[in-house]
Amino acid sequence: MAQLSNQKILVTGATSQVALPLCRSLSVDNEVVGLGRFRKPEDEAALRKAGGDCLKFDLATGDPGRIPDDFDYVLNFAVVKSGNFAYDLAANAEGLGRLLSRCRNAKAVLHCSSAAVYEYAGHKPLTEDDALGDNHRNMFPTYSISKIVSESVARFAAAEWNLPTTIARLSVPYGNNGGWPWYHLMMMNGGHKIPVHPDSPSLFNPIHEDDYIAQVPLLLERASVPALTLNWGGESVSIEDWCAYLGQLTGIRPHFETTPTALGSVAMNLDRLHEQVGPTRVDWRDGIRRLVEARNPELLKGFAQL
Ligand SMILES: NC(=O)c1ccc[n+]([C@@H]2O[C@H](COP(=O)([O-])OP(=O)(O)OC[C@H]3O[C@@H](n4cnc5c(N)ncnc54)[C@H](OP(=O)(O)O)[C@@H]3O)[C@@H](O)[C@H]2O)c1
Repeated sequence: MAQLSNQKILVTGATSQVALPLCRSLSVDNEVVGLGRFRKPEDEAALRKAGGDCLKFDLATGDPGRIPDDFDYVLNFAVVKSGNFAYDLAANAEGLGRLLSRCRNAKAVLHCSSAAVYEYAGHKPLTEDDALGDNHRNMFPTYSISKIVSESVARFAAAEWNLPTTIARLSVPYGNNGGWPWYHLMMMNGGHKIPVHPDSPSLFNPIHEDDYIAQVPLLLERASVPALTLNWGGESVSIEDWCAYLGQLTGIRPHFETTPTALGSVAMNLDRLHEQVGPTRVDWRDGIRRLVEARNPELLKGFAQL
């Protein structure tokens, strides 16, 4: 596996569920600066505990001249999904453009995109050339459009400033820092039904934090002009299966509610990811068991006897 060391790395969205464990890992051998609004004081404390410095900056409104222009790498994990199109596009797309203009001398950029950019296509494993669409509209009205537009901004920046870039369409990130399966566990524990799409099973490609952290240096190594775009996920697993497994681990049976407003499958073809950086390694059952052990050991079956 490629490693990064002695590099100055800017991570936007450093306090996010996805990027915080990445910052913790990168900061061991690198200088990591996390960019965000840090509206919650505990976010700043969490990033500092993870070894990163804080750059208070709102991507929608900030003056890019305040961002140092000597970063070796830029990792864009920030996302805002307030539902306000003007603000969300200003931060997710225009803000990214200003940031990349400022950091045009970086060695490489990783722009974290999402499987949410794809038009719903049932169980078909989607390749990077498949149709894009407003996939997550029911849940987050501005999200898919923001992610599609920000990809174009990243592509433009790569070509305009000869800035090697990888655009990675992340599926379902999870691990000891949480993720969608953990929300499902919380719903199960609270007695709530889990919404699932009528076209079952609801297939996604969950990827454990150990895997995406290990792949980031490789994704930066593969960054190119024009930008490389690829799907980023692990083996195909359904919501129904991971919830059933959470049920086996905890003894809490999942109850599903079938509704057309639930997110349908976004199954991804991972050939390009495997060619470029190799497969993921964490077995999904192992990853989910570790998530429960780390976050809610009290819910594990037999916990009382331990
Ligand atoms: N979570 C998933 O299931 C999932 C799936 C696929 C792809 N992704 C992608 O992974 C990345 C991280 O997602 P996440 O769900 O972990 O994010 P998250 O927990 O919602 O956190 C969003 C991050 O963006 C920052 N941010 C929001 N508005 C900002 C602004 N105006 N200026 C600067 N920073 C701002 C936030 O920090 P402040 O609030 O302090 O500004 C926070 O660190 C995103 O690119 C997302 O699209 C996530």
